[in-house]
Amino acid sequence: MAKNRTVFFCRECGYEASKWMGQCPGCKQWDTFTEEPVIKKKINKQVGLTQTEPQLLSDVTTDKDQRILTGIEEFDRVLGGGIVIGSLVLVGGDPGIGKSTLLLQMCRELSDKQVKILYISGEESLKQIKMRADRLGSFQGELLLLSETNLDSIEDTIRKLMPQIVIIDSIQTMYKEEIGAAPGSVSQVRETTGILMHLAKGLGISIFIVGHVTKEGVVAGPRVLEHMVDTVLYFEGESKASYRILRAVKNRFGSTNEIGVFEMRDKGLVEVSNPSEFMLQGKPEGEPGSVVTASMEGTRPILVEIQALICQTNFNMPRRTAAGTDYNRVNLLMAVLEKRLGIQMSGMDAYINVAGGMKINEPALDLAIVMAILSSYKNRSMDNKTLCFGEIGLTGEVRAVNMAEQRVIEAGKMGYDTVLLPQINKENVGNTCVKLIGVRNIREIVNLFS
Ligand code: TYD
Ligand code: MG
Repeated sequence: MAKNRTVFFCRECGYEASKWMGQCPGCKQWDTFTEEPVIKKKINKQVGLTQTEPQLLSDVTTDKDQRILTGIEEFDRVLGGGIVIGSLVLVGGDPGIGKSTLLLQMCRELSDKQVKILYISGEESLKQIKMRADRLGSFQGELLLLSETNLDSIEDTIRKLMPQIVIIDSIQTMYKEEIGAAPGSVSQVRETTGILMHLAKGLGISIFIVGHVTKEGVVAGPRVLEHMVDTVLYFEGESKASYRILRAVKNRFGSTNEIGVFEMRDKGLVEVSNPSEFMLQGKPEGEPGSVVTASMEGTRPILVEIQALICQTNFNMPRRTAAGTDYNRVNLLMAVLEKRLGIQMSGMDAYINVAGGMKINEPALDLAIVMAILSSYKNRSMDNKTLCFGEIGLTGEVRAVNMAEQRVIEAGKMGYDTVLLPQINKENVGNTCVKLIGVRNIREIVNLFS
């Protein structure tokens, strides 16, 4: 009997190998290889209108009106100013985070503007999509729905209807018959995305692909297709907390620095145009261990609260946790505090939390983390109207951060009257009504709590 040939794929990055390996040479992750059958038939990739002759750059014409605005401002900004015609966009995120809801809301806005949209779901029946749509409110325009997972018939439908925008929800449910592997396997996900890309480029249709992020299991993660698509958006947030952040991690047509902030309500996602106010909701007043800082998300300043709890440990090894920020960075800062200020941290448990569930890994957070630790350690609260930011070096020096002026302006807008910032930044910030206190070294801040 002829043996079915198989190959091995990395679930994380799609690396292909003829034998099983413990560590993937591509992305260096461990134990990510899965066995899949070799593709039996050669798949005809001649889809669309691929240009075979070289053309002069000056001869290539671009349409003036190349972008379609969705009308959801936060979404448009993350996309780099609307949807580029003929682009392939991956929307990744944990299951249940709100990807389908976001895209269906986009469909509603666009169908109101008479844009022809086809929403293909491999996860929900038409009835279920309708139920979700009813929850979101009334749809004025026409929206075409299809419940299908076979890519060949999807391709036929797209060619026949020629919509302007197509949503594929989700790529892990789509399959092509020629490929022996199960839907969601690396080879299926790669091949089906390849075909969708040819369709998008060839026919000038913008295609949105939903990809679930998977921690474990045999389903291929969106990382496998990140390099194939034009734009990669991640939708993140704690599923318990109500806010969601849409982040561009790759964008061929715009900056990757932008984020969009949404709140999940019972009638769908609502844009949050003032994230600082949202993040500081419920902040305790005058409590030790709570410090506010200004962090930059792309070109946007967002104020967040850093909380620290320092207490005597009951174990031989003190416990240290950092939620929402880099654990190693927190350990480093505690070592700097111990060495430079002589504060004994080795017998202390330390819990650090970025309140509100945001994840921030900016060095500009350092000063606020140190202040929160000191505040909790000394059991002295920080002034309610004071905010701080700055990077801390290993010798305890406070180093300059980027975009200090925007951070100060945001602090002023949100009612803060004093900002502690690196001395070098202070010299460069223009006129402001906020009182600025320049700091050169962490030694200078200890007195604030004495
Ligand atoms: P969904 O868009 O189905 O997530 P994904 O496609 O990323 O898997 O979102 C489902 C969650 O959102 C579900 O837990 C219910 C919640 N939700 C609301 O809170 N309000 C709403 O209006 C809708 C439609 C969903
Ligand atoms: Mg979904």
